[in-house]
Parts: sequence; C-alpha cells; structure tokens
Amino acid sequence: MKIDQSQFSARRRALLQQMLPDSVAIIPSAQMKQRNQDVEYPFRQDSSFFYLTGFNEPDAVLLLIPGREEGESILFCRDRDKLMEIWNGYRAGPEGAIRDFAMDEAHSIDEIDAVLPGLLDGMARIYYSIGRDDQLDQQVREWLNLIRDKVRQGAVAPSELVMLDHLLNEMRLIKSEPEQALMRRAGEISAEGHIKAMQLCRPGVMEYQLEAEILHHFAMNGARFPAYSSIVGGGANACVLHYIENSDVLLDGDLVLIDAGCELEHYAGDITRTFPVNGRYSDEQRAVYQLVLDVQKACIEMIRPGVLWDAIHQKSIELISAGLIELGLLGGSVEEVIESGTYRNFYMHRIGHWLGMDVHDVGDYKVDQEWRPLQPGMVMTVEPGIYIAADNEEVEPRWRGIGIRIEDDVLITAEGCEILTAKVPKEIEEIEALMASA
Ligand code: GLY
Ligand code: MN
Ligand code: MN
Repeated sequence: MKIDQSQFSARRRALLQQMLPDSVAIIPSAQMKQRNQDVEYPFRQDSSFFYLTGFNEPDAVLLLIPGREEGESILFCRDRDKLMEIWNGYRAGPEGAIRDFAMDEAHSIDEIDAVLPGLLDGMARIYYSIGRDDQLDQQVREWLNLIRDKVRQGAVAPSELVMLDHLLNEMRLIKSEPEQALMRRAGEISAEGHIKAMQLCRPGVMEYQLEAEILHHFAMNGARFPAYSSIVGGGANACVLHYIENSDVLLDGDLVLIDAGCELEHYAGDITRTFPVNGRYSDEQRAVYQLVLDVQKACIEMIRPGVLWDAIHQKSIELISAGLIELGLLGGSVEEVIESGTYRNFYMHRIGHWLGMDVHDVGDYKVDQEWRPLQPGMVMTVEPGIYIAADNEEVEPRWRGIGIRIEDDVLITAEGCEILTAKVPKEIEEIEALMASA
C-alpha cells in the first residue's frame, strides 16, 4: 500500500498551476540528524517534500518552474557513489530521479550553487519557506546576491519572496482517496496496538512494557515507527499532557492513559484511550470517563461539511463545563465557568487538530480571520480530556490524580464523517469485557 508515482507528478502539476508566471519554487528535503557519536536518527523525509516527490533521500532540493520549456520539475540530489552505497544503501542519483521519479531534469546536489543562480536570473519571484533551514536560507541569499552583482551585465534578480506554505498546505489538508486509504490503515493498525495494550495490562506491568507491546504491533504491520513519541501514563502521570518517560509501574486501582499512533508510509494515526490497570473502573473513574466519552461522541456527532472548526471546540467546552459542575468538581453556572475560564484547570487543550503526514498536520484553521468550515477530505482528531491534578485541593481527595482523554481520528465525508480508529473499543463495558477476556 503506497502512493503511486503518478500521484506525486499530479501533485506537482497541481501546485505548478497555482503558481504565478515567472516564478521558481524551492523545496528542500530533510537532512540526516546526528543522535550521538557515529549514530544518526532514522531518516524521516520532510512531509511536503515527500508529498511532491515520493523521493526518500536527504540532501535533495526540488525546483518547480511553471511554463519552463525544458521541463518544470527539477531535482538536485546526491550522486550515485559505489563506496557510500556499500555502507549506507542505494541512492537514486540524478539518472534515477528522472527514470523513477518522473523529474524533467536532475542534477547533482554538488552543482546547485553553479546551476541555481542561472535559473533564478530573470524570474520575478521565488516561492520559498524561509526560516526552516538555516543553511538553505543562506544559500538562497547568496544566489540572490550573485544575480544582483550582475545587474549591470543584464541580470535581473527576483524581487518578490513568497511563502510557499499556504498553497502547499491547502493541498495537503484535503486528502485524496489513496491518502484516505493509507490513513484508514494507519488508524486500524494504531487501534489494534491499543487493543494489544489493553490485553496485556495488569497491575505490576511497567508503562514502557505497554509502549513496547504497541510499537511491536506497529512494526509487525509495516509501520516501523510511531507518528510521535508514545505517551503511557499510569495514575497521575496522565495529568502530564506530554508525559513520555513511560518509566513507572502500573498500580492496581489506577487508570492508564495511552496516546499512541503509528506512521504508515508517512501518514499518522493518533489515538488515546484511558482504561483501568486492573480491568474495572472505580466509581469516580467511571463518572469522569463517561463524561469525557459523552463529550467526545457528541462532538463527533456534529462533524459534517460546513460545520465551523471552532464550533466543535466550543461544544466540548460547554459539555465539559456542565459535566464538571454536575460532578461537583466546579461551582457556579455553565456560563460563569466558561466566562471565568475555570474549566481550564481541568481541560487545558483544544478539541483536536488536523491529521495527515504530520500528526499536527498543516492547513489553516482560519480563513480571512474566520474559523473555517469543515470540508470532505479533511482529517481531524477529536480528543477531549479531563485532568484533575493530584494537588488540586479544591476537589475532594477521591477525584485527585484522575486524568482521562479519549481520542479518535475522523475523516470528513460528503455525508458526515468516518471514524478511522473505531476498531479500538471506548465504551466502558466493551473495555472491561475485553480486559476480562484477555
Ligand atoms: N499525540 C499528540 C496529540 O494528540 O495531539
Ligand atoms: Mn492528537
Ligand atoms: Mn494523541
């Protein structure tokens, strides 16, 4: 299951069509990153670069030049190198970039300083996302200065620098059918990983052991890496929103919150489930859990084309505030709680985010200063949570240290929505039954 090469070419064509004439887009690959002595982090391609090329090597730069007769897609990449390939594996080289990646033209990355100024000369504007890559920012400045130095010989330097992000991010925000299929599978593998963790869990198991079980399932299904560092937080660790130490023992009577999702062919899953370490929710845990679950389901129920992004978040605030008052965790009316913001002591993040090649995916949340309406093909998470700090002396001790989040991935469809992560249970009885039968 991969994106076909023809799709990458089609995306480049679509972007080229939106670019103004006399312009050049410069889009860099990711670079290798050092982890420690002689060890590098596993390579992860830049999402936008991969979206436009399918090319999975570092040290590459894509140029798009609309209307250029000799060809509109030009790739600079590493040369083939017998010795380096013995140590580090295959390189496509410029020949492979044309043959296998449908580039119109390709050069060695070593030639970029020699070739690029000539391509920029006479162009009106450069599309480039400045501020992401210091080395390339510096090179772009040098290329521009080289042209400026030759104006008396007739060279014409581009006069406009346009951030490329907007055009590209809007394309990435709407997922095509093949992307939806990959995200459906990423959601399924992620869901199965959570089921495995529920089945393995019992008092005395370590947080990292549940993480290991999940990562094993991801890798066994072709998703070698998670889309982000997995969160496995027992008891009050669940109230640390980005807890990734995962080093504590799981205790009888506590809940465990797991936020984990796989990355499959550069597409992310993102799921949170919160379940009892011993397989049975206590009365307090059950009450808070049911509230979060009801809020999550009510929010998903709202999702369809035309609904404003922020309306879903506002709904979650209203319902959580009302629920917290009903449980006696907050005083006052719903209006007072919302007005004063006291609900934020328990619910301090937003309802969700776009999901795609990046777990917090690209795409504007507002258009012309207004919250944007949902459209078919967008994918978002829905992840309300309630976190009662262990040192919150304003609530009865029995509530303290409970942290609960429930998160699913939702594709907006023409009729409404599809939950991509529905395979992992979230109803209390379903979770208890699953854990009892493990
Ligand atoms: N796992 C990151 C998030 O839920 O936003
Ligand atoms: Mn999320
Ligand atoms: Mn998450």
